[in-house]
Amino acid sequence: MLTLDKVTKHYGGRTIFDSASWAMPDDGRVGLVGLNGAGKSTLLRIIAEQIQPDGGRISRPQRTRVGYLHQDSPEMGGRSVLDETLSALAEMREHDRRRVELEEILATDHSGPTHEAALEELGDVLSELERHGFYNADSRATSVLFGLGFREEDLGRDVAEFSGGIRMRIALAKLLLQRPDFLMLDEPTNHLDIEARNWLEEYLEDYEGGIILVSHDHYFLDRVTRRTVEVSRGALNEYNGNYSFYLVERERRFEADLAAYEKQRTEIEHMEAFISRFRYQASKAKLVQSRIKQLDKVERLQSPAGLEKPPTIKFPNCDRGARRVVELRDAVKRYGELTVYSGVSLEIERGSRIALVGPNGAGKSTMIRMLAGVDDLTGGERIVGDKVVMGYFAQNLAESLDYDSTVLDELSRSAQGMTSTEIRNLLGAMLFSGDEVQKRVGVLSGGERARLALAKVIARRNNCLLLDEPTNNLDIVAKETLLEALRRFPGTVLIVSHDRHILNQLVTQVIEVGHGHAIRYLGNYDDYLAKKAQEESRAVKDAPVARVEGARSRLTQVGSSVAAEGATNGAVPTTCVNGNAKAVQSTSLARAGGNGRKAPAVADHASDRRRSQNARKRAEIETVIERKENERAALALEMNDANFYLARKDAKEMIARYELLGGEIDKLYEDLVAFEDSGAAK
Ligand SMILES: Nc1ncnc2c1ncn2[C@@H]1O[C@H](COP(=O)(O)OP(=O)(O)OP(=O)(O)O)[C@@H](O)[C@H]1O
Ligand SMILES: [Mg+2]
Repeated sequence: MLTLDKVTKHYGGRTIFDSASWAMPDDGRVGLVGLNGAGKSTLLRIIAEQIQPDGGRISRPQRTRVGYLHQDSPEMGGRSVLDETLSALAEMREHDRRRVELEEILATDHSGPTHEAALEELGDVLSELERHGFYNADSRATSVLFGLGFREEDLGRDVAEFSGGIRMRIALAKLLLQRPDFLMLDEPTNHLDIEARNWLEEYLEDYEGGIILVSHDHYFLDRVTRRTVEVSRGALNEYNGNYSFYLVERERRFEADLAAYEKQRTEIEHMEAFISRFRYQASKAKLVQSRIKQLDKVERLQSPAGLEKPPTIKFPNCDRGARRVVELRDAVKRYGELTVYSGVSLEIERGSRIALVGPNGAGKSTMIRMLAGVDDLTGGERIVGDKVVMGYFAQNLAESLDYDSTVLDELSRSAQGMTSTEIRNLLGAMLFSGDEVQKRVGVLSGGERARLALAKVIARRNNCLLLDEPTNNLDIVAKETLLEALRRFPGTVLIVSHDRHILNQLVTQVIEVGHGHAIRYLGNYDDYLAKKAQEESRAVKDAPVARVEGARSRLTQVGSSVAAEGATNGAVPTTCVNGNAKAVQSTSLARAGGNGRKAPAVADHASDRRRSQNARKRAEIETVIERKENERAALALEMNDANFYLARKDAKEMIARYELLGGEIDKLYEDLVAFEDSGAAK
């Protein structure tokens, strides 16, 4: 059991934890959630004993090994990926050396107290080595690295060659290799692509030890955790369920808190009105005195968290710039042997808001860098319009801030021609208020740093923004604030994001990149998905059709992955619509007798009638399946929205309906298969 007892922590004048208590069992699965800067990473540092609380106590069983993945990318270099990963086992190597020593002692001393002690210690050492999987470490290391997306040829490369995001993966691989009793992961999915994230999800589901997971990713939290602890206003509020449960339950608690708060406020107002009305009437003096005493005694409730109005960001005024913002003509981009673009022509018009989409590694970031002029082209031309000012937000921008500078100085350096009031307002919108602008960048939380990096881009009076994953590390309020600001921004926006909600609410065009090319679709992200689904279902119509059972198992897989993978991968809904299209296809063909059986040449009336009854029955089942599948696919699309829980009051009902439909569809397929197997369908 890990226990926190009345833990208090202050930074300067700010209270991060105010006598917070919490207990977690050794094999607990906890999601740690809260707004940027609430204190999640601080709590992990306190548990890992990297910082001391100002008051209170933390206790955990002796000899518990804690593994902690930090939110910031670690510094590494001078070793290959595989060696760096294996270096995580230094402690186990010590144990192994001790094992050899002990075995030597046992070989010479056959009895006596030295023998006894060595035997006992050897038992402990062996079980420790066994427990942490020391003897198959090499193969485990490679399997973890492959799971996290490394390829065979990467294993020998120096870690220094990789970006901060990839170094995070190496740090994660090291932790998983150590198999600590207690795993603390601070936003591990920020730098993972969908495959690596799915792999990690599965890995953690089977993990034997306890897990505390900090994340802003609903689906990942839902899959991995069973309890949720919210850090809010210095307290730790526990919820007995995963993130979906937390959202619904928090709403309920909020309503209850609000009702209690308002009731108390009305009572206080009544008392105050009574006091001020009768204060000077001698006949009421006693009563007034008693009310004053009563009022003093009232323990005033805090207004429930969530009532504060989120701030707004206002972009500084900018020039209009040319109608043709930027153009690529026959652009070619190669990195060594690898050709990313082999002749792309693209024109971006003023005022358009465009999402760049495509599978991981397709070249979205490369395209943004080419358009921004950060990367030189290998061939072709880049033409920038007159008076176009571009602001480029790179995924690693937050890392390149000057950690010794203050927040205010860091922003002032980038803010061209902004008055100091404008600068402070922008910082206020990014939730740096009052003294916080004097904070050193080095002490900022992950989300605060991401916001400062964004503010630096915004402050430059750009009329064209090129944003590569700008919402990583941002909490839900900050994401909404940014979205609103971008929607009001009169300039041009190109964005790479895994957040479907943002894409749908913002963009008017989608450019799909991949296979060296770029294809433009008009409309928002959902329109793009619908068009893709149409294209693919047309392709499926020409393809051979699977048997009903085949379609069913595929559907079950698709169904379960939709809710889990969620908003962060645009490809998911396509697969879902696709899966659905395939199923509809196969059932309608089955209805037409497409199961490969030949009709008998001669038939009597009775068997004709039976056949037509059976066909009707089967068609009935299939129609119901089709209807339910369509409904479920539509629900899945909505649930994939990153803001689904926030936007939909009936989220809980929708999830329940989604689950229910899944069960019903499975049952119907079972009926259909049983119906066919019983020979009734002959
Ligand atoms: N050494 C320090 N000195 C002053 N303030 C600090 C220090 N370390 C952290 N803080 C502040 O304490 C608050 C909590 O930080 P913490 O990193 O725990 O937040 P978080 O919940 O992890 O946020 P995020 O979601 O952005 O990662 C932040 O406002 C941060 O700026
Ligand atoms: Mg943090």
